[in-house]
Amino acid sequence: MTSLLKRVQSLPKGFVWGGATAAYQVEGATKVDGKGKTMWDDYLKAQGRFSPDPASDFYHLYPEDIELAKLYGLNAIRVSIAWTRIFPKGYGEPNPAGVAYYHRLFKCCLDNGITPYVSLHHFDSPKTLFDDGDWLNRKNIDYFVDYADFCFKEFSEVKNWFTINELISLAFSQYIQGNFPPNHHFDVTSGIQAQHNELLAHARAVNLFKEKGYQGRIGLIHVLQPVYPYPDTPANEHAAALEDAFMNRFLLDGTFKGEYTPKTMALINELLEANDAKLKIEPGDMDILKKASTQNDYFGMNYYQPSFVAAYEGESTNSFNGTGEKGTSSFKFQGVGQHVKKPGVPTTDWDWNIYPAGMYDMLKRVAREYPNSKTIYITENGLGYKDKYEGIGQLIDDEKRIDFIDQHVEALLKARSEGVDVQGYFVWSLQDQFSWANGYNKRYGLFYVNFETQAREIKKSALWFKELGQTLKD
Ligand code: BG6
Repeated sequence: MTSLLKRVQSLPKGFVWGGATAAYQVEGATKVDGKGKTMWDDYLKAQGRFSPDPASDFYHLYPEDIELAKLYGLNAIRVSIAWTRIFPKGYGEPNPAGVAYYHRLFKCCLDNGITPYVSLHHFDSPKTLFDDGDWLNRKNIDYFVDYADFCFKEFSEVKNWFTINELISLAFSQYIQGNFPPNHHFDVTSGIQAQHNELLAHARAVNLFKEKGYQGRIGLIHVLQPVYPYPDTPANEHAAALEDAFMNRFLLDGTFKGEYTPKTMALINELLEANDAKLKIEPGDMDILKKASTQNDYFGMNYYQPSFVAAYEGESTNSFNGTGEKGTSSFKFQGVGQHVKKPGVPTTDWDWNIYPAGMYDMLKRVAREYPNSKTIYITENGLGYKDKYEGIGQLIDDEKRIDFIDQHVEALLKARSEGVDVQGYFVWSLQDQFSWANGYNKRYGLFYVNFETQAREIKKSALWFKELGQTLKD
């Protein structure tokens, strides 16, 4: 028995052992049963690089994927509801076919002993609302809260809710990195405002959930990306603190303290000034955040990688590696810092640092600095890799993924053994799926999807994941 297996056995029965998905990345079927367009449909078509249809065709094949999840020892799945299946324009009359689909999906999960953890927003803003400014338009918040209220009431079989997935990733990709529509680069005013407005939407949905006495638990998901100075000099430490404020601290403070602390605002203001940018907080906003900050029942933490940062005073510039050609990404943020490679830290083909200690550091930090986060679930963690198809019925060798997950579960166990209340781990992803800015060759799944035929094949990591999951049941 491997040491990890032994240590996993020490986890309590009922520890959540799951696989994660997101509606737009797996469902396909973007034009059926009255679904409305998201911000992606026309954009992807115009770009012509890849199509979101049929993705992993989860819209039709969910019974097969849930069956696989069950067979391979999982007890939970993360799914998201596509806002535009419920409200094709983001508001108005609900679409009965979309509502019926999610009832079928949740029933299938529950019938198979797979607990659904459901997000309401995972990067797929309705096109109509996107055209009106998306999260930069405060009206969007009202529409989101109405949609959330509808879902809480309609899907009473769901007991575990997340409002929004990775508020920073959306804001950062849309307005700083420029690889999500509307593709702005270093539009710092929009980047910070979108974070604040998304947070308000989350907080209002949580407050409403509690006021109306809906049954179940509610929280949100942040991806946490520790920022380390490299080399470790005072100037680089300050650069790391600035980037950390923008990527982690601002949202963690807002979520779990209900305020942006003076230290956080000093860093944010310095970053905004360096970029001639502004944040607008309206009267009453902070009361909403304050009220919600103690009412989250749990916290979903996604973790992939840290960044290593050196001070940088030049103009902002970046390039995004969306092809898997190693060494093609760069990131330099005016008055903040530039990303550097730390010798000895391996990277993926997409230049993501592989650094399990970062997960441990973030778990400890959240538990120490944000006690209102309460129970933590790792809601995403995984390795993007160009898995090699071996033919029908042939096991796919993804030892690298096993190593990756192994090291990260070890980090989780270490934090847990030191008192951090982590109650679950969701691998990203359950099956191979569509990756927003990378398409289909960046695979993450435990199960391989042949995107031509939609056949599923088993990867070694699925067998290994099953062995670990099994120990939680015995
Ligand atoms: C997370 C998202 O940020 O990372 C997922 O919640 C995403 O939707 C995952 O797919 C991996 O990112 P990428 O860009 O490699 O697909």
